[in-house]
Amino acid sequence: MSKSSNVYWHENHVLRADREARQGHPSAVVWFTGLSGSGKSTLANELDWRLFERGISSYVLDGDNIRHGLNGDLGFSPEARTENIRRIGEVAKLFADAGTIALTAFISPYREDRDRVRKLMDRDTDFIEVFVEAPLDVCEERDPKGLYKKARAGEIPEFTGISAPYEEPLSPEITLDTSIEDVTACVDRLIEALVDRGYVPSE
Ligand code: ADX
Repeated sequence: MSKSSNVYWHENHVLRADREARQGHPSAVVWFTGLSGSGKSTLANELDWRLFERGISSYVLDGDNIRHGLNGDLGFSPEARTENIRRIGEVAKLFADAGTIALTAFISPYREDRDRVRKLMDRDTDFIEVFVEAPLDVCEERDPKGLYKKARAGEIPEFTGISAPYEEPLSPEITLDTSIEDVTACVDRLIEALVDRGYVPSE
């Protein structure tokens, strides 16, 4: 519930459509979701680089990084995760309003939270949900930060996939299994999907 009263919405003079026209491409939110260690950040950053090379305006918002700053006050209870995703949804929408393709890499384990962000967008098609699907045992085997080991040892409570839930998307726009396809193949598919949807001009 908003605690802000006596505040009034000002319309920007420069419209999103104006910014998009100058950029030469529409803006959007590409929402990566999946277990820790599934490859969300790796794919988002590689996609960011490939878009940058093509002159597309994009920017990565990443769970581990955002939790150092903007969301440093949030833990990992269901309520804190919901608030984490709510804030990131709002920030991603601002990036889209500013004409940029926001690439978000958060576990975002709750379907309802992700769907709320989708509904927040001006256009339903602006929310491109990417399910980064790697089986739990593969993520656990990778364990890049050693967190699964700690979670199994009971040192991290409410760890997604071990002692906290992950709700898979029911109809994501794109599904990538990083245990089968390598980074380049996954990013090729992402670019293709963005070209097909008209977000990226074909080369
Ligand atoms: S989310 O669930 O709220 O979307 P977010 O993506 O911001 O999570 O942060 C996940 C990252 O925080 C993980 O990649 C991991 O490095 C770290 N982390 C620390 N504690 C936990 C936990 N209990 N569950 C999941 N990830 C955790």
